[in-house]
Order: sequence, then structure tokens, then C-alpha cells
Amino acid sequence: MVSAIRVIVEATIPDYWYNILPDLPKPLPPPINPATKEPINPKDLEIIFPKELIKQEMSNERWIPIPKEIKEAYRLWRPTPLYRAYNLESYLKTPAKIYYKYEGVSPPGSHKSNTAIAQAYYNYKEGIENLTTETGAGQWGSALAFACHMFGLKARIYMVRSSYDQKPYRRILMQLWNADVYASPSNNTKYGKSLLEKDPTNPGSLGIAISEAIEDAITHEKTKYSLGSVLNHVLLHQTVIGQEAKQQIEYLDDYPDMIVGCIGGGSSFSGLFWPFYYDVVSKKAKKNIEFIAVEPTAAPSITKGVYIYDHGDTARLTPLIKMYTLGHDFIPPPIHAGGLRYHGKAPTLCLLANEGIVKTRAYNQLEVFNAASLFLSLKEYCQLLNQHMQ
Ligand SMILES: Cc1ncc(COP(=O)(O)O)c(C=O)c1O
Repeated sequence: MVSAIRVIVEATIPDYWYNILPDLPKPLPPPINPATKEPINPKDLEIIFPKELIKQEMSNERWIPIPKEIKEAYRLWRPTPLYRAYNLESYLKTPAKIYYKYEGVSPPGSHKSNTAIAQAYYNYKEGIENLTTETGAGQWGSALAFACHMFGLKARIYMVRSSYDQKPYRRILMQLWNADVYASPSNNTKYGKSLLEKDPTNPGSLGIAISEAIEDAITHEKTKYSLGSVLNHVLLHQTVIGQEAKQQIEYLDDYPDMIVGCIGGGSSFSGLFWPFYYDVVSKKAKKNIEFIAVEPTAAPSITKGVYIYDHGDTARLTPLIKMYTLGHDFIPPPIHAGGLRYHGKAPTLCLLANEGIVKTRAYNQLEVFNAASLFLSLKEYCQLLNQHMQ
């Protein structure tokens, strides 16, 4: 009887992040300043982001070195394991080999720490003392709380109210790392107050929480804003995932012909597939690869949205970015996957979807829960078997 295997061998933490911008099939439409209708000047972003992250956001360098302090922090949980889901394969009676890269081993429990550590580090280096952010399910918020704690910064986190009520344990985790957490919309910002006056039961959305976090950052000294997905610099920090996966699967003398991931803003999926996309454009890929992004039917930005310039937040504080969007004032139903309740998607992912290079599918949360509980039961089963065999 076979069971899931853990591939811990032969992966090293990469020395560089991979930046997809120079390898896109066409130039990425620039972010637009809504006041001037001109492409944004990097200086305009300094009110919310540190200089180094703005540089990375606009960079055309393909490989960006990972500072040793960040690599040191990654060593706490990286490289992460690659598993092969033998039991799922036999349940499905498929000839396919199914592998998954498990990012849940980071201290806060998700891939989000890969960029949280980098963002906290660059802010700390530039003398910032507080970071504000939004969080949906709480995974991004807990990653940033963890990273801020590591570099001695204070995190102020706006957690979408529906998740704040559904997932109190996530709030407690953030507070254990010394973060302040507010249910959004909150009374902490002018924008939050204005929404609560109209509707005290407003369940919130990522778009609203982003507006609150930005307002908080621009109205306080030594405070900047941090985003957990969507932007180029965030996605490129996640490419440690795909670079490790490539080493691990090649060690097994294998190579993928399909890469699948869920998309909220698109960072975990991009982190996994970008390094393989690099193989394709540099003609090193050993097979044709299909890239498949999966979004919830509750927030079907790419499958049902339009590809236009829109704001990243509800109060229209952010620059206009070209993406598939459901409209910046769209409030998705309060599904369990709080991190996937976003009206837009990463501009790089949208460009690739528009070019037909990434395919997108949408699933209802009940279908996803059924698949997840099947997966969990098979995994538990094989772990039990493992114990008996030892
Ligand atoms: C575990 C996990 N996966 C995926 C996502 C979706 O975000 P992204 O599309 O940026 O990976 C989130 C967002 O909070 C998350 O916590």
C-alpha cells in the first residue's frame, strides 16, 4: 500500500526572486494616476510604500537578489515540502501524477509569509515603525503580524468584518504577535465610519479594508501600507515556491504538464507558475504546460469581469490598474474563503489570461468543500497508515 510521500530533499532556498515583467508577451499597462490620467510617477507611491518595494514594482530586472536577512528568516520554514498525492490518484483512478507544494508549514500557516517578511524588512530598513494592511480570512494579516514582530514594527490590521466574526482564532493569532486588529468597516477611519453610518451591518470586503488601511497609513507618521497580493513586487516574492518546486520535481525526474492554483489576488498561483512560465519563454520547458487558475463563483473577477482600468479599493484611493474587475464597489457574498473575496486580480495574471496563456475556471464553495473534505480524508488515511508502517 503506498501513501503520500514528502519530498524534502535536494531543494535549496533560491538566491533570487524571479520577476516576470521582462518576459510578458506584451508590456504591462502602467498604473494610472486618477487625477492626471497619466501613468503613475514612482514618487507618488512613496506616501504608502518604501522606495525599495516601488523599485521592485516597476523593475525590468529578471532576477532580484534576496537579501541575506530575508533568506535567514525564510530558513525558519523553507524549503517547503512537495508531496505526491498517491491516494487521491488511486481514488480518481487517474494515470496522472498529482503533486502539491505545501506552504502551510510557515509559522502563520500560509504562503503569505514569503512576501510579509520581505515587505516588513524593507520598511524596517527605511525607518518605518508601523505597517497597516487589510486581511480577508486572516492569513495575510497573521503573516504580516508575524513579520512585523520579527523586525520590531507595529502592525495595524483591518480584517473584513464577515471574517472577523467567522474566524476569531485568526484575530487572536495576530494579537499574539502584538498586532492591533479592527473589524472593517471600522470606526477607526473616516471612510469606515461613513459606511457604518449608512449600514451598521455592512459585512465588509477586501476593497473596503484596503481603503481603511491606506487612509490609516497616509494619516500617520512613520507608517506605510502593505498589500498581501495583486502587485508585482508581492507576486515576485512568492516565486521561491515555484523555484523550489522545480528543483524538487526535477529531482524526481519528472516535469509538470499542468499547474493549477486558486486565485484571490493571484499571488500563490503566480509564485508557483512563474518559474515554470520562465522555462516556457526561455525554451527550457521539458513539456507543454497548461496554467490553470481557479477562482470562486462568488467573486468571478476573470471569468465574469471585464478587462479595464479600475481602482484596487472601494474608496478609490489606489491608482487605476488594468485588470479583470467586477467593479471596485462589488461586495462578494461572505463565503468561507475570505482571502478569495476580491473584486479584481493581479494585472500580470490578467494580462496572461487575456492573452489565453493562463486559463481560468470558477467553482462554487460547496464543490470546493466537498473536494477538500475528500482530499483531507484520503490524506488522513494515508498518514495513519504511515504511522502503522513505522
Ligand atoms: C492560503 C491562501 N491561499 C490563497 C489566498 C489567495 O490569495 P492569493 O491569490 O494572493 O494567493 C489566500 C488569501 O488570503 C490565502 O490565505
